[in-house]
Amino acid sequence: MSATTIPPVTAPRLEIRNMVRAFGGTRVVDDVSLKVMPGQVTCLLGPSGCGKSTTLRMIAGVEMQDSGEIYVDGQLICDTVFRIPPERRHIGLMFQDFALFPHLTVGDNVAFGLSGSKAEKRARVEELLDKVGLRRFIDGYPYLLSGGEQQRVALARALAPRPKIMLMDEPFSGLDNRLRDDIRDQTLELLKAEDAAVLLVTHEPEEAMRMADEIALMRRGKIVQQGAPYNIYNAPKDRQAVAFFSDINVICGKVQGALCETPFGQFLAPGVADGGEVDIVIRPQHLKIEFDRNGKGPEPTPQNGVAARGEVVRARFMGSESLVEIRMDYDGSVLKATVPNVFLPQVGRPLWLMFRRDRCFVFPRESA
Ligand SMILES: Nc1ncnc2c1ncn2[C@@H]1O[C@H](COP(=O)(O)OP(=O)(O)O)[C@@H](O)[C@H]1O
Ligand SMILES: [Mg+2]
Repeated sequence: MSATTIPPVTAPRLEIRNMVRAFGGTRVVDDVSLKVMPGQVTCLLGPSGCGKSTTLRMIAGVEMQDSGEIYVDGQLICDTVFRIPPERRHIGLMFQDFALFPHLTVGDNVAFGLSGSKAEKRARVEELLDKVGLRRFIDGYPYLLSGGEQQRVALARALAPRPKIMLMDEPFSGLDNRLRDDIRDQTLELLKAEDAAVLLVTHEPEEAMRMADEIALMRRGKIVQQGAPYNIYNAPKDRQAVAFFSDINVICGKVQGALCETPFGQFLAPGVADGGEVDIVIRPQHLKIEFDRNGKGPEPTPQNGVAARGEVVRARFMGSESLVEIRMDYDGSVLKATVPNVFLPQVGRPLWLMFRRDRCFVFPRESA
């Protein structure tokens, strides 16, 4: 791509600022701001009920915000006074239950929102059906298609009028697992090729990791963290942010002189006052399992700290990894460790666990 085709500063394709929506006195969307650049996929990720769909509906214009502004390409399209109606926002929508019209052919479904001459429409419909690999069904009816194929047609229909922005609300949740992966990948390719800015809502971390250039993690109406998937996963903001993506193990401790003493050795807790409590959080795949040698574990190391002893309470094979649960001698709590491939130690067998220092997170204790 030559430098002349890229403007020096690109306004976000979509920007929302300080969006608020309350129902019955409860703010279900509470001061949400975010930007989506052209050609980028941002995932609004959070548990059910946290306000994702309400945010999307306000952007689409089918729900009105109590306060806040929406901009497209730097132009205000909606605040509490001024409001461009939904049909003039150049926004494409795709929802899980966004059904095709059963009485129209696949081609006519895709052509539905198009204007222009018959030939122009036909060309655009053929182009999109080609891209989703369903051109051969152009004159067929939706009932001939599988669920996944119908989903692809719905995507083609949403993209046909070249929307500047695509809003997708859990669009894949009606599909079964293996099909879903393929369709996600194809969808992503097509969205990128069409250069739309995409805001995709999901409650599934795997889906967000797979689809997103950027993830906005939402909780109780607020965006708690935003960034590239890698950063959200590896530099989570708090204990709940770690737990949203995977199982976690938590060790609690008290801080003295910016250090926290635990059965796994000392952990740094910078910025925590003496006597303050911390949660040391680590994912099961980052616990290190060591064998017992005549009642002894391995020597301490700077990377992995001190080993603590426990006994196996359960071991299960999960397909690509094994999950081993270990009851710790020091307080009887059970920690979870995963190991690649097959590792199924017998119940009651002694093992030693170490904490990978570069993979654990130390957070000030949250009041539950
Ligand atoms: N029209 C409405 N009237 C009253 N409460 C609503 C309305 N729409 C959504 N809510 C409530 O707002 C909260 C957020 O809903 P929603 O945005 O659909 O969450 P999500 O999509 O993250 O699951 C929920 O508690 C829901 O019950
Ligand atoms: Mg929803």
